[in-house]
Amino acid sequence: MAILVLGGAGYIGSHTVYELIRAGREVVVADNLLTGFRAAVHPKARFYQVDIRSREEMGALFDREHIDGVIHFAASSQVGESMTNPLKYYDNNLWGTTALLESMIAHDVKRIVFSSTAATYGEPERVPILESDRTEPTNCYGETKLAMEKEMRWTERAHGLRFVALRYFNACGAIPSGEIGEAHNPETHLIPLILQVPNGQREKISVFGDDYPTKDGTCIRDYIHVTDLAQAHILALDYLMQGGKSDVFNLGNGVGFTVREVIDVARKVTGHPIPAEICPRRAGDPAQLVASSEKAKQVLGWKPQYADLETIVASAWNWHRTHPHGFGDGRVK
Ligand code: UFG
Repeated sequence: MAILVLGGAGYIGSHTVYELIRAGREVVVADNLLTGFRAAVHPKARFYQVDIRSREEMGALFDREHIDGVIHFAASSQVGESMTNPLKYYDNNLWGTTALLESMIAHDVKRIVFSSTAATYGEPERVPILESDRTEPTNCYGETKLAMEKEMRWTERAHGLRFVALRYFNACGAIPSGEIGEAHNPETHLIPLILQVPNGQREKISVFGDDYPTKDGTCIRDYIHVTDLAQAHILALDYLMQGGKSDVFNLGNGVGFTVREVIDVARKVTGHPIPAEICPRRAGDPAQLVASSEKAKQVLGWKPQYADLETIVASAWNWHRTHPHGFGDGRVK
């Protein structure tokens, strides 16, 4: 029996596949490669280039493979794009998940772990954020992820399918071995953008706002290493396999860092001065997002291994320094 990883050629998906294979699991990867990279897929995983929205392609995959559980990363995930092109998010994220759940029910596959996001909370009512706190997304990306969670709840009632939704805070870093790492086009995330400066690809980093109500005026985020996220998916799948009930878990380190602090850590790690320029605020950025992940620790037995920000940035630098153009033939796809 195999684990099916949808979106296993993307950033968090590919890292989860590496951890599953390291744990001796049999893995099938499905990805449409619109944003993922074939080169990011572990060579020991069986790969299918399919789109979860295609019932035909997914049906053929489920017919061919004996799938025991699904880990679902296949979604569009850019907050800014979700505001200018919301229907793409409803199509890919919500309709894609609907088609996937139909395929799963038709093939009697009843366990799914899926990537949700801190963006389901919107502007938090308090920090650290608990899973039971108000969910009021401020962008369409978060709205579709929250809708996916609700869709799974109703599907469970009708069809007995059990799920775990993992609400990530700021995923970052790269596998310590340096084989794979983060590659987006366009890149919008803070740490890879900062590291483009010492890599000679950017002159300075823009700081989006220094007038937030935080200790140095810049936004606070909870940065969590991608390998720690990957481990949480495996624990969540095992939890469901052992009969665990459907649930939602935050995944973060519970410690917030300002944008300025992240830049300072990157200066220390790379030995480069990394010039920074204060720019206007970016629309839709909450001032502060920090997770309480006590529930994941208690229920799933999750223990982040790379919690220290310097270690996280060093692992990202190890990847970007050696792969300045991401995957492939010298081109950031
Ligand atoms: N930032 C800058 N300059 C940049 C890029 C980012 O100052 O060039 C700031 C942002 O304003 C923000 C912080 O750095 O305050 C982190 O920004 P990221 O874009 O790296 O991450 P976000 O917190 O915006 O988004 C992340 C995930 C989303 C998820 C969201 C949940 O990437 O998928 O957290 O709020 F939805």
